[in-house]
Amino acid sequence: MAEKIIIAIDGHSSCGKGTLARQVARALGYIFIDSGAMYRAVTLYLIRNQISLEEVEADPSILQNIRITFEMNPEGDFYNTHLNGENVESLIRNMEISKRVSEVSKVRVIREFLVHQQQELGKNKGVVMDGRDIGTVVFPNAELKIFMTAQPEVRAKRRYLEMLGKGLTADYDEILANILERDRIDSTREYGPLTHAKDAITLDNTDMTREQQASLAIGWAKGVIMSR
Ligand code: DC
Repeated sequence: MAEKIIIAIDGHSSCGKGTLARQVARALGYIFIDSGAMYRAVTLYLIRNQISLEEVEADPSILQNIRITFEMNPEGDFYNTHLNGENVESLIRNMEISKRVSEVSKVRVIREFLVHQQQELGKNKGVVMDGRDIGTVVFPNAELKIFMTAQPEVRAKRRYLEMLGKGLTADYDEILANILERDRIDSTREYGPLTHAKDAITLDNTDMTREQQASLAIGWAKGVIMSR
């Protein structure tokens, strides 16, 4: 059997990293890990328990009360994010969390806490993980690194339509502003900033369909696996 690899997918907010990671994981029979969901789950925990970022920095042991797991849905086609046993998958996607998660993900002790868990999840390889620092910090030796981007207006429109499709209320201008602000904070923070790893392949999907991006990335992955 072919040796398993690690595939790191980093890039800007809302450009479809999760969709691509799922497509590649399914094609290869690999596990998909959404690292952004882990930052979102920590954000939800802190809001619910009214814990400030200063309190976490002063006492990082607070984080030991947070257990994040990914559980397959009954249909067997999607991993839901669980926070201390509760399915929080849809709660962590709301606008309040999207607005606060970038500040939470700036905090060094929170990054260290989650990076360690992400490395554990990938230790047996056969993993596709998407995020901002996967190819640079979490798995600097990943065999395939993809850096995704798309024009901000296209990303905002896709997210807007996706929210409407789910029956949620959505405001295009608010979504665009949030995307631009998250890009700015993610790229300029001190710890684990979003940067293009030197050895990452760029995938700009502004003018691509989901099928086109999938076949491109699956082709790259198979090429790497076969060359080993
Ligand atoms: O992928 P996402 O948009 O769901 O991620 C939510 C936020 O989490 C994003 O604004 C930045 C942060 N994040 C991070 O700092 N590092 C990661 N590896 C993944 C996400």
